[in-house]
Amino acid sequence: MASTDPTTMRSVLGHFPSGVTIVTGLVDGEPAGFTCQSFSSLSLDPPLVLILPGRGSSSWPRIEGTGRFVVNVLAQDQGNLSTQFAKSGTDKFAGVGWSPAPSGGPILDGATAWIDCTLHASHDGGDHLIVVGAVQDLATAELPPLVFHRGAYARTDAAL
Ligand SMILES: Cc1cc2nc3c(=O)[nH]c(=O)nc-3n(C[C@H](O)[C@H](O)[C@H](O)COP(=O)(O)O)c2cc1C
Repeated sequence: MASTDPTTMRSVLGHFPSGVTIVTGLVDGEPAGFTCQSFSSLSLDPPLVLILPGRGSSSWPRIEGTGRFVVNVLAQDQGNLSTQFAKSGTDKFAGVGWSPAPSGGPILDGATAWIDCTLHASHDGGDHLIVVGAVQDLATAELPPLVFHRGAYARTDAAL
């Protein structure tokens, strides 16, 4: 049987291409956020989505404490933003424009879609949490999305 060590898991699972999101929130009036590839729609009625924050994230517990979050789906020219929001302990919002979602959480300028959520549930998921968001509002700017595949960012317009 093939090994299921973390390196093999990451390399094999990296073959599953996905979009990239930045999960944001407003914590005591200050914006917070982290890059999160693990996002999915879960249910249309009721409208629910899924994110999987790692147990090591320092931003998620702070955002979770507010009971609401915004999922920003990144556009294809936002690879740098994805990298910036993946660096723990840095001023991730330095030079980043945003506007408030109805919940007050940051909608990042240039994102192709945003989903404004309240925290619905959180379940154990090993070294990650399985977080369910109840969708309160959402919209799209219809821009080509950023794709992450085998550890690298890809543009979609190249494929079209
Ligand atoms: C492309 C990419 C995808 C990522 N996906 C996730 C994810 O799905 N869940 C997660 O918790 N962290 C993910 N991360 C790592 C977090 O962004 C990183 O651990 C986090 O930003 C650390 O900062 P924090 O301590 O402020 O939370 C990803 C990073 C990158 C670059």
